[in-house]
Amino acid sequence: MSLDIVILAAGQGTRMRSALPKVLHPVAGNSMLGHVIHSARQLQPQGIHVVIGHGAELVRERLAADDLNFVMQDKQLGTGHAVAQALPAITADTVLVLYGDVPLIEVETLQRLLAKVSDTQLGLLTVTLQDPTGYGRIVRDGAGQVTAIVEHKDASEAQKAIKEGNTGILALPAARLADWMGRLSNNNAQGEYYLTDVIAMAVADGLVVATEQPHDPMEVQGANDRRQLSELERHYQLREGRRLMAQGVTLRDPARFDVRGEVTVGRDVLIDINVILEGKVVIEDDVQIGPNCVIKDSTLRKGVVVKANSHIEGAVMGEGSDAGPFARLRPGSVLDAKAHVGNFVELKNAHLGEGAKAGHLTYLGDAEVGARTNIGAGTITCNYDGANKFKTVMGEDVFIGSNNSLVAPVDIKDGATTAAGSTITQTVEAGDLAVARARQRNISGWKRPEKIKKS
Ligand code: UD1
Ligand code: CA
Repeated sequence: MSLDIVILAAGQGTRMRSALPKVLHPVAGNSMLGHVIHSARQLQPQGIHVVIGHGAELVRERLAADDLNFVMQDKQLGTGHAVAQALPAITADTVLVLYGDVPLIEVETLQRLLAKVSDTQLGLLTVTLQDPTGYGRIVRDGAGQVTAIVEHKDASEAQKAIKEGNTGILALPAARLADWMGRLSNNNAQGEYYLTDVIAMAVADGLVVATEQPHDPMEVQGANDRRQLSELERHYQLREGRRLMAQGVTLRDPARFDVRGEVTVGRDVLIDINVILEGKVVIEDDVQIGPNCVIKDSTLRKGVVVKANSHIEGAVMGEGSDAGPFARLRPGSVLDAKAHVGNFVELKNAHLGEGAKAGHLTYLGDAEVGARTNIGAGTITCNYDGANKFKTVMGEDVFIGSNNSLVAPVDIKDGATTAAGSTITQTVEAGDLAVARARQRNISGWKRPEKIKKS
């Protein structure tokens, strides 16, 4: 079976009350349309055709990719009209229709639906709801066979009582499509060309309409307003949380955990509350992440501990290393095994060798720190002159006293020591002590200024 996928994404989404086209609103850090495209790709179709209209330029710009064919629908004349715009580009024998504002559809559900399609059969995804208001209703005959879909606004009272609704997602044999599209009319309550009218035509042509249902109704829930968007977000997060728990992660509270990207996890990982994982995050076995941490595009190797309120981005934390509380690792931070970063320490493009330590109140930018080197509290690298950045290199077993300013470019060699309060501007040779501060001077009998008393 060859497959073309048509994604309907031309609608306006007035109820979002937004300058952003509806399908670009994010769920879990990716646009709704982005999620649908991600699912579509997993079916390995020969074409993905995205029908755009409202905000078309922005949608195209944000999502452009080699495997996507954007099709313009200038006026939104209905779902049937939308699919018809993609028709000239369709070459496969099966067409699957998805909605750009229904982001949580599962690939497994679509596979079940596609298994129903043949030359003589359509696959229609339906959902049974307590309150199907607004949905097209699935009309069945006495034998239970689907005969038509009637839109809510066109339905009789008896038809409105039907609880089985149309999700809008369907799969059909492409060979028939051109004929059916040509026969659509807009003679209905909304004056639109309904894709759903294809169902009655197919039945009249002797085809069978086979139905499937999603395991969870949220899979086919669209977002028309921000409240529904928030419901999709929570559902996605719970689903993602459950997936991680099934793989060996303890989540202190799945309701206070967010994933906005792709996460891979090992076993016996512990994640405390209010943790956000963004982008590509790799978490190996036995990692512990404290509360209120943001981890973005980073790798945490086996046994890493990230303590409360830390922000880790573009970093690699080696086996058994730790950071926080209140640590900030910025892009290019690399901690080798057992390196330690303590509170109020910021790293940017800095490498701490095995067992190296920066325990308190430190900024290391463009720095190379050798194994076992210890950096005293309040130390900063002066790596930027307002125009250029320079490197600070510290060897192994270096001891940097508290409150040092290391003015880059500068080289502090193996085993060297710098005195507290030093401003280091020159190379310190291996094993030497550098003292680079003003000598203390005491003035005896010093008289403090006194306030003049008002009478
Ligand atoms: C549609 C179905 C209805 C189903 C419901 C599920 C039709 C006629 N009705 O109704 O049976 O129960 O979805 O939510 O198909 N779109 C375009 N171009 C258009 C019109 C729509 O791209 O000209 C896109 C929209 O952006 C949206 C999707 O198609 O993603 C559905 O359109 P919408 O107007 O929401 O359809 P409903 O009236 O809800
Ligand atoms: Ca809708």
